[in-house]
Amino acid sequence: MELRELGKTGVMVPEIGLGTWKYSGGVAPLLRGIGLGARFIDTAEMYRTEDVVGQALKGLRDSVFLATKVSGSHLRHGQILRAVEASLRLLQVDRIDLYQVHWPNRGVPIGETMSAMESLVNEGMVNHIGVSNFDRRELQEAQGAMTNHPIVSNQVLYSLKDRDIERDLLPYCQEQSITVIAYTPLADGSLANKPRLLGKLDKGTATLQEVAVEAGKTMAQVALNWCTSHAGVIAIPKSNSLARTEENCGASSWRLSPGQLSRLDSSFGR
Ligand SMILES: NC(=O)c1ccc[n+]([C@@H]2O[C@H](COP(=O)([O-])OP(=O)(O)OC[C@H]3O[C@@H](n4cnc5c(N)ncnc54)[C@H](OP(=O)(O)O)[C@@H]3O)[C@@H](O)[C@H]2O)c1
Repeated sequence: MELRELGKTGVMVPEIGLGTWKYSGGVAPLLRGIGLGARFIDTAEMYRTEDVVGQALKGLRDSVFLATKVSGSHLRHGQILRAVEASLRLLQVDRIDLYQVHWPNRGVPIGETMSAMESLVNEGMVNHIGVSNFDRRELQEAQGAMTNHPIVSNQVLYSLKDRDIERDLLPYCQEQSITVIAYTPLADGSLANKPRLLGKLDKGTATLQEVAVEAGKTMAQVALNWCTSHAGVIAIPKSNSLARTEENCGASSWRLSPGQLSRLDSSFGR
């Protein structure tokens, strides 16, 4: 598994992690993923999967990078303190490696939110602060509100089918050394599975299939490798299945050629 630096922290994280939204696979797929080097698990208070992640982490805490999130509806100072305590309890850990603001909330001053997040680092409950679903302006406002600690990551929608961040946010994060954590990198599985209905494939899917055959990889592995071919991007696919978790981990430690990347780029477009 290839590693990438998280922000400018000096902490190395795998380029493929494990997502857990709507996760119902029990501990086995998570343990297999960890065993294959996907030692980055992403959860959130709203996913209701912090408990299963906690079970998987028993005895492994120090070898896994643990990321969770406070909901965008809990961004007042006191709400953040209550949320982190509940997450620590469910995860059965005494610190979170990356605590992320799940989505921005215009109804709460960003200064109040980010100062509460910083206080968690100062108190040793959290190692690093991240955000999620922040556009460039929101990210800049959040950065401007920080006093002692940097924002190290922004978790956003990014896949061959969802490329809006390439216009503005991705270049900004790359310039600022803010890691982009690509969520829904398989477009909810639609980039990993051949369409069930027979008929003419759309141009993007046809190219994805062609490149997969050429590279000797699966469509899912090509779609994930395309994400991580971008500087500063890691991807967090979710799978309930042991076999598909193994497959997704196999998206690392090799690279699509420049020609394959440009064919994928042009056939999916923006
Ligand atoms: N911050 C946010 O607002 C936000 C929003 C959405 C997601 N996320 C994070 O990103 C993670 C991933 O995103 P996602 O769950 O929305 O979508 P995804 O990872 O793009 O796709 C998940 C779907 O793909 C299927 N799948 C996974 N690997 C496969 C493979 N190799 N072959 C065929 N099908 C495969 C899964 O089915 P099986 O489980 O049956 O394998 C599931 O139906 C989430 O779990 C969560 O941690 C964050």
